[in-house]
Amino acid sequence: MRRAPALRDDARRWQLDLEAARFYQQFIVPVLLQPWAARLVDRATLSPGCRVLDLACGTGVTARIAAQRVGPGGEIVGVDLNAPMLSVARSLDPVPGAHIRWRRGDAEDLPLLDVSVDAVLCHQGFQFFPDRVKAALEIARVLRPGGRLALNVWCGPDRNPLDAKLIAVLESGGRSAFSQAMRWPFSVQNRHEVIAPIVLGGFRVVTAETSRLRIYAANATAFVHGLLRAMPFGSEIRGPDMEALVRDTISGLGAYVRCGELRVPSQAHTIVAVRAL
Ligand SMILES: C[S@@+](CC[C@H](N)C(=O)[O-])C[C@H]1O[C@@H](n2cnc3c(N)ncnc32)[C@H](O)[C@@H]1O
Repeated sequence: MRRAPALRDDARRWQLDLEAARFYQQFIVPVLLQPWAARLVDRATLSPGCRVLDLACGTGVTARIAAQRVGPGGEIVGVDLNAPMLSVARSLDPVPGAHIRWRRGDAEDLPLLDVSVDAVLCHQGFQFFPDRVKAALEIARVLRPGGRLALNVWCGPDRNPLDAKLIAVLESGGRSAFSQAMRWPFSVQNRHEVIAPIVLGGFRVVTAETSRLRIYAANATAFVHGLLRAMPFGSEIRGPDMEALVRDTISGLGAYVRCGELRVPSQAHTIVAVRAL
């Protein structure tokens, strides 16, 4: 009886243990996060020498891409609530010439000084913040006037067939708590759920778009297994149960899996806003 609320809370804020964070870095980052993160950094139009906050940085994929754009004269600070994610971030090879600091902190109470960054990136994090207006006000506090906020969040499962299939397979296997957890990353149905709090936080929206990307994994079975292990409930499914879940997901994906490779469309909302002067 005690596990369900704990999982709900962990999933709501995407809190992983160290093993799940390692699976996250190995399987989810290269396939699902890196391609979107590169696009987000493009939208932010960072200049060399910029100071950038990567909020909800996870294992740091966006921070690393941003570090290459701002160069050795710039600085990135990656902030995340989850200590295991930061531990994996710190364990990775450094980006040559880059200055990246990793700090534990909450989006609603950032461990940064007022007006201390030129730009803020938030890649697949905003949907997890319980009080989005409070988070937007905090982002505005640390960002210089006129500075850019670029964020993205996935669209709902109806536009992300891989995740819709995982949700359905977990649900039909009687694992509704896990299925609920799987829904959280895809909980923003309409981008105004993100735009409204940002505007209340003191931002002017510059662009808001829904974009598409084709996800590719060379080994669909290994990827789905790694993805499930990287979930907040990943350590709770083992052995034959895990094998059955992976098998059902792969067969349910139908034509998206060919010759063992996964090619599946994905959609996300990308919003760029400027802090009011
Ligand atoms: C799906 S991961 C995305 C991580 C990273 N941005 C990436 O693209 O790989 C979501 C992250 O949001 C973080 N998070 C959730 N709630 C947070 C909060 N209130 N403050 C800071 N980070 C938070 C989680 O710890 C997790 O690392």
